[in-house]
Amino acid sequence: MSELRTGRLLLRCWRAEDERDMARINRDPEVCRYLNRPVDETAVAAFFGQMVGHWENHGFGPWALESLEPERMGQFLGFAGIAHVPPFLAAAGPAPELGWRLDRSAWGHGLATEAARAARDDAYGRLGLLEVVSIIHPENERSRRVAAKLGMHKERWIANPALGIEVEVWQLGNGSRVLQT
Ligand SMILES: CC(C)(COP(=O)(O)OP(=O)(O)OC[C@H]1O[C@@H](n2cnc3c(N)ncnc32)[C@H](O)[C@@H]1OP(=O)(O)O)[C@@H](O)C(=O)NCCC(=O)NCCS
Repeated sequence: MSELRTGRLLLRCWRAEDERDMARINRDPEVCRYLNRPVDETAVAAFFGQMVGHWENHGFGPWALESLEPERMGQFLGFAGIAHVPPFLAAAGPAPELGWRLDRSAWGHGLATEAARAARDDAYGRLGLLEVVSIIHPENERSRRVAAKLGMHKERWIANPALGIEVEVWQLGNGSRVLQT
């Protein structure tokens, strides 16, 4: 599986030229405001390799998002998809995380929800998942809305040691089976 399509988006594998565009998105303080850990230059530099590495190591991962809309055709917009939860957030449990991060210019048009729906359906269909979580800063209203629109519910709180606060774990599924790869 190398790509998914929605009405307005192509979800595809990462390309070398995405590294620069994703770094620009990751350097936007508004984008990073509520993320699970601080995004400094070290994290920005490591990010692309982590995305590609996740696909190489597990056969799935967050999808790169490309616009299919005429006025933005081919533009890189960010990512959405499934990844294993990082060890510092192991308290969230073994289910993979469904995450999303878009260029600020693309916010507010339902694109994150559209992308995450396609990634969710692929995860539940092709990957055979029965549970995913999203770990969300309690003040990240946009992200909480995306999770709610996907049919997720806020299930519990966990400590986030990187931020020194409690964050929300949103869940989709019944918890009876999780991916082991
Ligand atoms: C979270 C994010 C992906 C949402 O992207 P998006 O394309 O704007 O999302 P959508 O348009 O699909 O949905 C956003 C929802 O937030 C709502 N929203 C928009 N602005 C808002 C605001 N200022 N306060 C509260 N809700 C707001 C929208 O109305 C929409 O909900 P609705 O459809 O019920 O009206 C995007 O803001 C982002 O990349 N943020 C930075 C990275 C991040 O925080 N990722 C998530 C980490 S858990």
